[in-house]
Amino acid sequence: MAKLINIAILSLLFLLSLVSTAKAHEGAIVDISKFGGKNGGCITEALTKAWNKACQSPTPSRVLIPPGSYRAGKVLLEGPCKASIEVEFKGTLKPTEDQIKDDSWIQFNKITGFKLFGGGTFDGEGAKVWEKCKGGGLEKLPMSVKFNFITDGTIEDICSINAKQFHMAVVGCNNVNFNRLRITAPADSPNTDGIHIGQSTNIRVCDSTIGTGDDCISFLGGTKNVSITKVNCGPGHGISIGSLGRYQDEEPLTGITIKDCNFTNTDNGVRIKSWPDRYENAASDLHFEDLTMNNVTNPIIIDQNYCPGKSCAQGHSKVKLNKVFFKNIKGTSANPCAVKLACSSGTCEGVELSEIDLSYNGQDGQVTSECSNVKPNVVGKMNPPACRAPVQIGDKGGGGGSKVGENGKGGGEKKEKNDSGNDFVHGPVPYVLKHSDYGLFNHKMESIDLQKARFVFGYG
Ligand SMILES: *[C@@H]1O[C@H](CO)[C@@H](O)[C@H](O)[C@H]1NC(C)=O
Ligand SMILES: *[C@@H]1O[C@H](CO)[C@@H](O)[C@H](O)[C@H]1NC(C)=O
Ligand SMILES: *[C@@H]1O[C@H](CO)[C@@H](O)[C@H](O)[C@H]1NC(C)=O
Ligand SMILES: *[C@@H]1O[C@H](CO)[C@@H](O)[C@H](O)[C@H]1NC(C)=O
Repeated sequence: MAKLINIAILSLLFLLSLVSTAKAHEGAIVDISKFGGKNGGCITEALTKAWNKACQSPTPSRVLIPPGSYRAGKVLLEGPCKASIEVEFKGTLKPTEDQIKDDSWIQFNKITGFKLFGGGTFDGEGAKVWEKCKGGGLEKLPMSVKFNFITDGTIEDICSINAKQFHMAVVGCNNVNFNRLRITAPADSPNTDGIHIGQSTNIRVCDSTIGTGDDCISFLGGTKNVSITKVNCGPGHGISIGSLGRYQDEEPLTGITIKDCNFTNTDNGVRIKSWPDRYENAASDLHFEDLTMNNVTNPIIIDQNYCPGKSCAQGHSKVKLNKVFFKNIKGTSANPCAVKLACSSGTCEGVELSEIDLSYNGQDGQVTSECSNVKPNVVGKMNPPACRAPVQIGDKGGGGGSKVGENGKGGGEKKEKNDSGNDFVHGPVPYVLKHSDYGLFNHKMESIDLQKARFVFGYG
């Protein structure tokens, strides 16, 4: 009898809990249409109001952007919120103006417990402004979606096309997963990097397709423990660590894994780049493994003389690379030199090449590899044979504008190359975070003035 009563009570409690969960959830869905967001209309205000309402909810909440085509100007969706918050984005969003005079278009700031999902598309309509930018002007173009100081987040099933500048930037974030993203822009669109990750920890990008006119994904200083898996990259400049050493106060970068990715018709596959004449920094524990290259110009490249626009004096890079593993990398190179390791003197340690099998898919010549100032540890199959020659100066596609100044044994002739193309200057300071603001991911977010903060995304 007692048992039966217990069961009855438990069942009742269970039912009650179901009812209350449903209610909380129902109450917490904030549809932008309730704030005047209409299909075909501009939702800057509706989205902001819906966000602010949801953000004030003491229980988990969700902002809903229903299917439809919308426009918005600059939108800042900011926390901290009272509970976790989601944005279910089902529509297509385009900017209101041809050119927004801001560093970004849609910004998510200072949120703990965040999810953005729903199959929606951010369409930056970049084609309207790329031409002007290509003309050489350093116009300030906004990046499409920026995630600043997100802790415990998921961004999934989201599409970003034709950003005016970067598609996504991830700054000061911790523990954020990016799944099933589709990011596209034409191969010749300037500065349209897929995802820029800086000053962030525990970031994972998985199951995504990224094809743009610049880096598919790139990592800047202060980034730790990042894993990129199952990404199809191309067209574009490949996946890049760096550029590093361009700015004082950059923080070291460590623990990056790029695994199970395909690169198709990209300028680079996996690349590490640093400036030759600037500041100290370090990158370590870098793992590039199980990668397939399809007609990639520089499948494997370390370029410590990265200097687009020749705005630097030649010299030694002060960026130290340590524990760099290239493992099980197969496929075809569009350039006879498939492996190029251009280090400064004494800056590259613990570089390992294992199970490399790359062939040249052009006519004129055999696949080769070049090294300067580095003796990689070679394990297992190595095709092309490692370090057959010192790095040649200024070969085509040398990392989108690198000029290698220290070619070890002096084997290469000096060819000057006008390399103002390819990696464009990344706008005037799209995001700025002061050095003194570093290390604040979790606790001190409220005290940061994001407008004054100083963090610079450098060259491609
Ligand atoms: C690094 O990330 C992995 C998951 O990608 C996680 O399991 C691990 O705990 C993280 N390491 C640190 C030191 O945070
Ligand atoms: C990479 O290409 C191979 C062969 O076409 C395919 O089997 C694999 O699924 C691709 N990887 C990704 C991440 O799509
Ligand atoms: C291979 O890449 C080169 C250089 O990017 C390009 O010119 C060529 O058309 C590509 N070949 C194929 C088959 O895509
Ligand atoms: C190199 O490119 C720049 C910028 O487009 C141009 O001004 C300059 O004349 C070019 N130099 C050469 C040698 O082609």
